[in-house]
Amino acid sequence: MRQNAEPGADDGPGAGAGRPRAANDLPWVAEPATVNRMKADQADNWTPSSWRSRHAEQQPEWPDEHALEQNLKVLSTLPPLVFAGEARALYRSLAEVAQGRAFLLQAGDCAESFYDFTADSIRDKLKVILQMAVVLTYGTGTPVVKVGRIAGQFAKPRTSPYETVDGEQIPVFRGHIVNDDAPTAEARRPDPARLIAAYHQSASTLNLLRAFTKGGFADLSQVHMWNQQFVASSREGERYEAIAGEIDRALRFMTACGIDLEAEETLHQVDFYTSHEALILGYEEALTRKDSLTGTWYDTSAHLLWCGERTRQLDGAHLHFLSGVKNPVAAKVGAGAAPEDVVAMCDILDPERDPGRLTLISRMGADKVDKALPRLQEAVRASGHPVVWACDPMHGNTFMSESGRKTRHFEDVMAEISGFFVACRKSGTWPGGVHVELTGDSVTECLGGAEEIGEDDLELRYTTTCDPRLNGRQSLDLAFRVAELLRAN
Ligand code: PEP
Ligand code: CO
Repeated sequence: MRQNAEPGADDGPGAGAGRPRAANDLPWVAEPATVNRMKADQADNWTPSSWRSRHAEQQPEWPDEHALEQNLKVLSTLPPLVFAGEARALYRSLAEVAQGRAFLLQAGDCAESFYDFTADSIRDKLKVILQMAVVLTYGTGTPVVKVGRIAGQFAKPRTSPYETVDGEQIPVFRGHIVNDDAPTAEARRPDPARLIAAYHQSASTLNLLRAFTKGGFADLSQVHMWNQQFVASSREGERYEAIAGEIDRALRFMTACGIDLEAEETLHQVDFYTSHEALILGYEEALTRKDSLTGTWYDTSAHLLWCGERTRQLDGAHLHFLSGVKNPVAAKVGAGAAPEDVVAMCDILDPERDPGRLTLISRMGADKVDKALPRLQEAVRASGHPVVWACDPMHGNTFMSESGRKTRHFEDVMAEISGFFVACRKSGTWPGGVHVELTGDSVTECLGGAEEIGEDDLELRYTTTCDPRLNGRQSLDLAFRVAELLRAN
């Protein structure tokens, strides 16, 4: 697997080692008058292409505008990837989370790769997410809403548009939907044919996910099968096996009581949803379609779309685009965000104050969350927006190892989640979920965990195309610890 060579690429404001920025330094703080005008504009003037009259951050410099528009035109004729009714089902489930009756597990790759596209890798990612969901559901008695960063998570926002490789300045890697990760100027040239390739990879991935989740693989009687070999013999694997054994016993007990388990559809199928960062707005526009049932617009590239930390300018194109689609949407929120700007963002994305519409994903850093988060949560609550608050413990805790690998420490990840729970308790908010970057494989990308991965181990199996991911054991360990925090809550 080729490596992305840009240092510190996918971290954000407030992330990693000291790039402190005061709230009023943020480039996206718009004047109140601008915000009010935007809010008024929002409902009336929105079309799938109206984002084009606003400034869009983080768009590639496509070398040939004509070729870009040709590819977007083709995309706009291709079938939707997801259906409006499915997005509405996720919306309803997230409304349960918003009201403190369910928990959101959003997980998957930092960046999906055109080179890592096999049935096994999709299956193994699904396995670890299903395992985590079992641990959380069994451990807390709370329903878990399962959303993958998958089947469309290809585009990456970057800190800087260029990087220097062997003395030459070349464009950065922006995800396989835009360019290739090989560190040459030629490979980094944005190619709009990749938009179509990303669509087709998303379609195949989604097809397999639907088969796995609806066709028997996700049947609760298969819980043992989801434990991968390299995990099964570990402490976390054994803890998981114990739960799986108890689930077996419970199922046998119900059968013995005369309950017809075959007829219970919910035991045999899982609702699994897709999500990605809505970054390349031409792609999202081309897949936005009018729902024939309701006459409203849905972005059919995924069930849930989110706005990243670098593109949530109040008067920018990304929030404007998301304001007009009826999917559930989310936005990342860093430690530098000012409460009034977060509330203004909620006004743009969730004007109806509708539970399930908006998820705010806090990504602050382990050392900042307890101070920065409660005042944001209090401001949002006072504004009446019934948002889901989820914790991304990854993007505020990224740093460079001495060998130049981007990494995160498992204990920092856990510390941010604990800080998130403390903040939620302080502000009287339901800790609604976690948002993590993971893979089912036994990669060595994040430090620590039960295997005690050290800096020297990073060279062993470091295969991510962008940010470091938790491996199967670390992911399962995280699920057990989150279940404990949720129980204590
Ligand atoms: C991401 O989720 O991969 C990402 C880039 O996050 P953020 O926008 O929070 O930096
Ligand atoms: Co990332």
